[in-house]
Amino acid sequence: MTRIRLASITELDKGQTKKFRYTQDGVPREGFLARLENCWVAYENRCRHIAISLDLDDGVFFTDDGKYFFCQTHGAVYEPETGLCVHGPCKDASLFSLPVKNDDESVWLELE
Ligand code: FES
Repeated sequence: MTRIRLASITELDKGQTKKFRYTQDGVPREGFLARLENCWVAYENRCRHIAISLDLDDGVFFTDDGKYFFCQTHGAVYEPETGLCVHGPCKDASLFSLPVKNDDESVWLELE
C-alpha cells in the first residue's frame, strides 16, 4: 500500500481544496482534496467529459455557491460527496474517487 500525507487536519477550512500529485498504475496523476461539511474527499483532477483537469490549473473546484465541483471547460457539475456528475455533458458519470483517511493530525491518501 502507498500512503501519502495530503494535509494536516487544520490546513483546510470547510469548502477549501488542495491539489496533490500521486502515481497510480505507473502513471503520474493529479488529484484534489476537499474538506466538506463532515468529511474529506479526494478525486483525480480529471473531467469525465474530456480527460483534462477540472480547474485549468487555477485551483478552483467549487461553484460560486460552494455546493458543487465544476469543470471550467464546459461546465460539468459534480456532487462533492459522491463525485457524480449531475449536470453537463458527462451527466451520470462520476469523478474517479481516491481513498482518504484522517487521524488526529493528518489526512492521508491510501492507495493499494
Ligand atoms: S471537459 Fe469538462 S465538461 Fe467538457
